[in-house]
Amino acid sequence: MSVIDTPNKKEPNFRSLKPSGHVGFDSLPDQLVNKSVENGFVFNIMCIGETGLGKSTLMDTLFNTSFESTPSPHILPSVKLKAHTYELQESNVRLKLTICDTVGYGDQINKDDSFKAVVDYLDVQFEIYLQEELKIKRSLTTCHDSRIHICLYFICPTGHGLKSLDLVCMKKLDSKVNIIPVIAKADTISKEELQRFKAKIIQELKSNGVQIYHFPTDDETVADTNSLMNAHFPFAVVGSTEFIKVGNKLIRARQYPWGTVQVENENHCDFVKLREMLIRTNMEDMREKTHIKHYELYRQKRLEQMGFIDVDSENKPVSFQQTFEVKRSNHLAELQSKEEKVRQMFVQRVKEKETELKDSEKDLHLKFEKLKNDHAEEKRKHEESRKALEEEFLEFQRRKQQVAASHNTMTLGKSKKK
Ligand code: GTP
Ligand code: MG
Repeated sequence: MSVIDTPNKKEPNFRSLKPSGHVGFDSLPDQLVNKSVENGFVFNIMCIGETGLGKSTLMDTLFNTSFESTPSPHILPSVKLKAHTYELQESNVRLKLTICDTVGYGDQINKDDSFKAVVDYLDVQFEIYLQEELKIKRSLTTCHDSRIHICLYFICPTGHGLKSLDLVCMKKLDSKVNIIPVIAKADTISKEELQRFKAKIIQELKSNGVQIYHFPTDDETVADTNSLMNAHFPFAVVGSTEFIKVGNKLIRARQYPWGTVQVENENHCDFVKLREMLIRTNMEDMREKTHIKHYELYRQKRLEQMGFIDVDSENKPVSFQQTFEVKRSNHLAELQSKEEKVRQMFVQRVKEKETELKDSEKDLHLKFEKLKNDHAEEKRKHEESRKALEEEFLEFQRRKQQVAASHNTMTLGKSKKK
């Protein structure tokens, strides 16, 4: 075994060694491939675009199947997001595909909050993943990862550039998801107009600082194709659920009185380019960027919001344990202060109630005294009138006796005279 000392910039203590015979770790990539194939893959697409712009048709065309969607009405009061998950299989590779569709996008008179539902949806998917990551018993490999890997933003083929709704929405989303803008129903726009339209869109995106997804050019095997495709942005796409027979082959196409648009014909539209880039060449890059760029940003912000830090004000590393202890003591102090406040409030209330009770007792006492006095006065008056009546009665009796006596005397005098 030969030993070669090659100082590594990052890991200066590591030495490179070459085994003198075959060991077998060169099969690691194969092991990785086998494991991934066994687990299956997950890919989540979000389609944003006004009602009827051809989102569902494009998805059917892209995956060469029928997802059986229902058209949305134009009368919804707000934007909603609808996600459906499908299990697809090609050869021995299984793909769990989620298509998330905006329902009612661009249909409201006030479009100020149209992007909000989308932002919330993206954040909720990040939050679900974060909560799983923070669990003690994590099941990141088995739980369904619903984070959106790519957002196809459908641009209306007006030929007049982007609408303000498009710019506002893409600007709000570009730090949360990989965005690929596509010109929908590109068969409705002429070849020359399309070139001008594409240039205008790119210029508007640039001047408004909207960061769209670019196919990676760091891997030399795909660098050339990817940089060529990056120059074709935004892809002008056509979707169809109709098939026509060309030779003995059925191909997707749209038939018009004046001719036929073949979806997979590169002279007719950029559909094939989009499919190649999205599914065949860069699917893994989009999944990776979602995890290491967009999710990482969300995770960082959320952990900071929760009070976690990596370094303190003096740039010294702060461990999770330290942050937790600080948070715990802050929480306890907060609890104590709340408890003290509640206790003071309770004492205050009791005092108030006590004064209230005392006052009403006093009132009652006064009322009782008054009633007692009134009663005594009444009683005294009654007594007086009883005495007066008694005296009157005695007087009456006395007079009655007097009258009776004088009557007797008169009767006696009369009888003597006789
Ligand atoms: P909602 O889900 O209701 O918002 O609509 P959507 O965006 O999913 O559109 P859908 O795929 O249902 O297509 C709406 C209509 O546009 C259908 O009649 C399609 O046939 C037609 N359509 C779809 N793609 C294209 C296209 O590329 N070009 C043209 N000209 N028409 C298309
Ligand atoms: Mg649809």
